[in-house]
Amino acid sequence: MFLYQLLSFFFVASKKEEESKYDLSLYKRGDLLEVPRTLFTHFGIYLGDNRVAHLIPDILPILTRNKSAIAKMVTNNRLLMGVIAKVASVRVDSVVDFAYGSEILINHMDSVCSQPPLDGDEVARRAEKLLGSVTYSLLWYNCEHYVMYCRYGMAISYQTYQFCTIVRKIAFSRISAYLTALCGACTVLYLGCVTPLTVLPTLLIPFTIWMAA
Ligand SMILES: *[C@@H]1O[C@H](CO)[C@@H](O)[C@H](O)[C@H]1NC(C)=O
Repeated sequence: MFLYQLLSFFFVASKKEEESKYDLSLYKRGDLLEVPRTLFTHFGIYLGDNRVAHLIPDILPILTRNKSAIAKMVTNNRLLMGVIAKVASVRVDSVVDFAYGSEILINHMDSVCSQPPLDGDEVARRAEKLLGSVTYSLLWYNCEHYVMYCRYGMAISYQTYQFCTIVRKIAFSRISAYLTALCGACTVLYLGCVTPLTVLPTLLIPFTIWMAA
C-alpha cells in the first residue's frame, strides 16, 4: 500500500513538472514550435489554447479505427513505423504531447529563413485547413514542409537538403565499399563460403529507394 502511494506520488509529481515545464504564455497563435525528436527536428504551429498543429508520421490510423487510441500521444514506435509505411497525419495535440519531453524553440526559423513570416492568424488558419491524413514521404513532404508552407508560404525543407547530402556521401563511399566487397567476394569464392554480410547491400538499396520515393 505504501509502495502504491509512493509510486502515485512520483507519478503525479512528474506529471505536474511536465505541465509546468511549458509556459503557455510564451506562445502566440501562429508561432512555429520546434523540438528534437528521434532522427529529426520536429515542427508544429501553435494554434492557441494549448493546441499545436503538426504533421507527424503515425502507423496507428491504418491499424485501428479507435479514435481515442489514435488521439493519444504519438510514441516513437508509432512514429518510426509511420515513416517506414509512409503514413502521416496533420493533427492537433497539447503542447506536452507535441514536445514529448523536450525543450521547445520558438520561431527559431525566422532568423534562418530569408522570407519574413506571414501574419500569425493567417499562419494558424493555413495550419488548420490542412488537418487530416496525408501520405508522408521522408524526402518530399514532411513536417518541415508543412510548417514552412504555413508560416512562410513556401514548402521547402532544410533537413531534406541535408538528408540528400548525406545520401550522396553514402553513395560515394559505397563505390569504395563495392571495391572492398569485390575483393571480399574473390576471397569468399576462393575459400568457398558465403557470409551474411554480402546479402546486406541487396536489401539496403531497394529500401533506400522506397524511402526516397
Ligand atoms: C479504444 O482505445 C481506448 C484507449 O486506448 C480504450 O480504452 C478503449 O477500450 C478502446 N475502444 C475499443 C472499442 O476498442
